[in-house]
Amino acid sequence: MSVADGSPSGSRTPPVGPTPPGHADKMLSLPDIEELARQTLSPMAYDYVASGAADELTIGWNRQAFDRIKLRPTVLQDASQVDMRVTLLGDELPHPILLAPTAYQSVVHPEGEVATARGAGAAGAPFVVSTATTAPLEEIARVATAPLWFQLYVQSDREFTTRLVRAAEEAGCRALCLTVDNPVLGARNRQARSGFRLPAGALTPYLDDLNNGRRDLFTAERVAVTWKDVEWLRSLSSMPVLLKGILTGSDARLAVESGAAGVIVSNHGGRNLDTLPATIEALPEVVAGVAGRLPVLVDGGIRRGTDVLKSIALGADAVLIGRPYLYGLGTGGAGGVQRVVDILRRELELAMTLCGRASLAALDHGTLWNPPADYFA
Ligand SMILES: Cc1cc2nc3c(=O)[nH]c(=O)nc-3n(C[C@H](O)[C@H](O)[C@H](O)COP(=O)(O)O)c2cc1C
Repeated sequence: MSVADGSPSGSRTPPVGPTPPGHADKMLSLPDIEELARQTLSPMAYDYVASGAADELTIGWNRQAFDRIKLRPTVLQDASQVDMRVTLLGDELPHPILLAPTAYQSVVHPEGEVATARGAGAAGAPFVVSTATTAPLEEIARVATAPLWFQLYVQSDREFTTRLVRAAEEAGCRALCLTVDNPVLGARNRQARSGFRLPAGALTPYLDDLNNGRRDLFTAERVAVTWKDVEWLRSLSSMPVLLKGILTGSDARLAVESGAAGVIVSNHGGRNLDTLPATIEALPEVVAGVAGRLPVLVDGGIRRGTDVLKSIALGADAVLIGRPYLYGLGTGGAGGVQRVVDILRRELELAMTLCGRASLAALDHGTLWNPPADYFA
């Protein structure tokens, strides 16, 4: 085993993606790329991405909870060749990192979601397109080379929602991701203070309520969505339906009963209800509730390969990132998105090698210094 240059010998992963001219030394890690975005995006665009609800306590907790978890390495194992492949909903993925749905991407880059799809494809990461996309699905699908999923907000016009689900299926989306933690929009104080607005001429092709003036950018229409609607959505297309925004074991059990195809443990990146717990803290309870019957994904605060490793050790099948790839998009377009995923994937590979774990299946509670209960006591 040669580790002369700090990377595992025989690594099968390609080098990390491109950097914009003059920025190579500032884009070595996800925190670096966030700092570059802070310096180069307009304050309004940066705050749109970085901000959360109310006092933004949950945003901080998402990070702090990861930092409290320590790793337990095993030495003299041959983990020089690390296998990060994972099969999700029938698709084999090269690594367990997906791009979470994020709204209004043309705020951070003129090519918005189209550039993100290009970067996602180059990095082998599925991209979950938001209902609040500022590019039409056909344009995104035209450039996508990795799986696309579609994130759904149910809108008051059920016929419109039905047409939207069918449009997503026709565009080739592999899954529908129903966001369940957003019956109203949270108190977006910082976003409002920064004067959030869409670029002149920006489209929101799938936000019927916004386009028809039934809501503005700071208030989601109040639509009653319940467990019965999961069944309704399943009847509309053959796409598997995942539920995004599950935080408790009891909701995880209901998700299984509802026929959902997977759950995403998420607190919406701390953007809706402040003082929700960190997602990594909620993950073990959801994993126990699901009891192996569905895939479990998690997002919120993932900034390092060790965060991905910890998520999988605590029972997640895969993770999603939100803000980091928007910072990549804002600073480097498609190449910046690719670079963010590549860095995270490379860091995961390093962490697995250094922990002596050669596959994702080998990551379990034994990879953590203390049992999970101790971290969150
Ligand atoms: C700018 C921004 C816009 C978002 N828009 C959506 C959205 O349209 N639909 C949704 O389900 N989640 C949305 N989210 C939440 C993300 O899908 C994800 O849960 C969160 O960003 C993960 O946390 P992280 O940003 O710390 O990685 C958004 C997040 C951000 C940062």
